[in-house]
Amino acid sequence: MFDQRAIWEHAWTGRRPPVNGFARRCLRYVAPETAAPLTILEIGCGSGADALFFARRGHRVTAIDFSRSAVEETARAARRRGLVAVTTHQLDYARPPLPFPAESFDLIYSHLSLHYFPDALTIAVFDDLRRLLKPGAFLCVKCRSTADSLYGQGEDLGGDCFRRNGHVRHFFSKEYMARQLARFTIRTLRRTSGAYDGRKGAFIEAVAQRPRSS
Ligand SMILES: C[S@@+](CC[C@H](N)C(=O)[O-])C[C@H]1O[C@@H](n2cnc3c(N)ncnc32)[C@H](O)[C@@H]1O
Repeated sequence: MFDQRAIWEHAWTGRRPPVNGFARRCLRYVAPETAAPLTILEIGCGSGADALFFARRGHRVTAIDFSRSAVEETARAARRRGLVAVTTHQLDYARPPLPFPAESFDLIYSHLSLHYFPDALTIAVFDDLRRLLKPGAFLCVKCRSTADSLYGQGEDLGGDCFRRNGHVRHFFSKEYMARQLARFTIRTLRRTSGAYDGRKGAFIEAVAQRPRSS
């Protein structure tokens, strides 16, 4: 019921949304603390606008998504711009563990790609992301919030999850996001709003740090 791969498989062909403001905010927050280049994992990269933004700033980016069109569009755009620091993998991060060694990344970045799973799986996915971060490294994550206009629409699956037009979303409260980040040091955690995909939305965004001593 929560496997949404078919919906996303062809979603990105020929689609090139702009760089998200969250990517710029994350880099402003994280980069001053760490010498470039950062090793970045982008979770659910879509057609790769944010991955390419990070690479243009001199960072090494591993961009993953289970949608073939997402991975193809990201790889094609990186090739066209000569951005060799972007690598792509077609992977499902909802089947942890991801096939990367522990403590591989300085930054894990997720823009609207972690609010799709029931509670137990959400916890397992956040745990795996924590495993992949170096001590002291950052997780930047933005999810749709319970204040979003899509909240409550469609079939109620319980636990703030709703299915609408075949698309399942798990809406986060600020408290729910804080619970996912309980084993991190939370640097910023806030409610935001703005446009995504031509529609106004409400979000929770967080910057969290894996403690250095764990
Ligand atoms: C709302 S889009 C966001 C894309 C991009 N981050 C952006 O902001 O434009 C969510 C993305 O997450 C991907 N995704 C969702 N669940 C996934 C999973 N379990 N494994 C890999 N990718 C997933 C989808 O294929 C889609 O590209």
